[in-house]
Amino acid sequence: MKEDVLILAIESSCDETAASVVKNGREVLSNVIYSQIALHTLYGGVVPEIASRKHIEKINQVIEQALADANVTLKDITAIAVTYGPGLVGALLVGVSAAKAISFATGIPLIGVHHIEGHISANYIENKELEPPFVCLVASGGHSHLVVVKDYGEYGIIGRTRDDAAGEAFDKVARAIDLGYPGGPKIDKLAKEGNPNAIEFPRAKVGDNEYDFSFSGLKSAVLNYLNGCQMKGIPVNRADVAASFQKAVIDVLVEHSIHAVKAYGFKQFAIAGGVASNSSLRGAFEERCKKEGIAFYHPSPIFCTDNAAMIGAAGYYEYLRGVRSGYDLNAVPNLKLGER
Ligand code: KG4
Ligand code: ZN
Repeated sequence: MKEDVLILAIESSCDETAASVVKNGREVLSNVIYSQIALHTLYGGVVPEIASRKHIEKINQVIEQALADANVTLKDITAIAVTYGPGLVGALLVGVSAAKAISFATGIPLIGVHHIEGHISANYIENKELEPPFVCLVASGGHSHLVVVKDYGEYGIIGRTRDDAAGEAFDKVARAIDLGYPGGPKIDKLAKEGNPNAIEFPRAKVGDNEYDFSFSGLKSAVLNYLNGCQMKGIPVNRADVAASFQKAVIDVLVEHSIHAVKAYGFKQFAIAGGVASNSSLRGAFEERCKKEGIAFYHPSPIFCTDNAAMIGAAGYYEYLRGVRSGYDLNAVPNLKLGER
């Protein structure tokens, strides 16, 4: 019988300090997330220096908790996987340093993992039958990518945002209608009370690549609409703005994604990243994929936003591919997917 592979995974690229133990890539034995959101809410967004300091304060505690929850010790761990980019450099460095220190002290192999590869791999946790190849839409606070997952650890980016990421647009529009940070979940909730067809916001097309996205025009259209209302003394229905904005984002994400799945001839499609936890987005993809005969996969919301279990899933497949990192592993804030 093959021996179990237990990955201790660490994630600290933004404002979540997280650690997890994952068995054989798909079974989450523990998933500890210390969220700093409440702290950053005070400033209306993530303050990098505060994030780094909080990571330092919490990292050891979170790792110990992840081992305890999984009922294992470091002696049981096969490899340590850690996010080394992309993300905030000071934040990334905390996780990378902790992982290197444990690896150095124990001799457990170290594996640097790409944050986006982690988001994509979150789909493996609850969808045991899902295997590459498939198309994945990654929509988070920092990224909006359409990715062809050719095989485990092999990716081709076919579309990306030209300006704002989808999550960034959610956060900016939320701020404009005084919902606070982080905007995604708040718009998601408020939109349920609004009419998605109340205001006609633009659906941007990017001329030279049909799979690319652009959300800054939409954000400006929302700001212009709000300014116009203010100037004319018309009261703003915030729920209608939230619902109409959200619909505009979802329409574009769905159209481009389904077009890519069909054009590349795949029968499987997955979503990932914080925005993938949006309830209307999930509903829209569910419906459209059913109509098109495409199998649709998505992680539970807790595995959509930043967590370490997804890094453990990705780390497992990198481990099987023979990937090992040295003690010179460094944080790479703008790391490209597929690069090492
Ligand atoms: O993946 P994530 O946790 O961090 C990054 O890697 O960026 O994504 C965070 C982003 C934020 O912009 C947040 O507003 C957005 O995901 N988000 C949502 C929802 N939950 C989180 N956007 C729309 N609807 C949601 N329910
Ligand atoms: Zn993320």
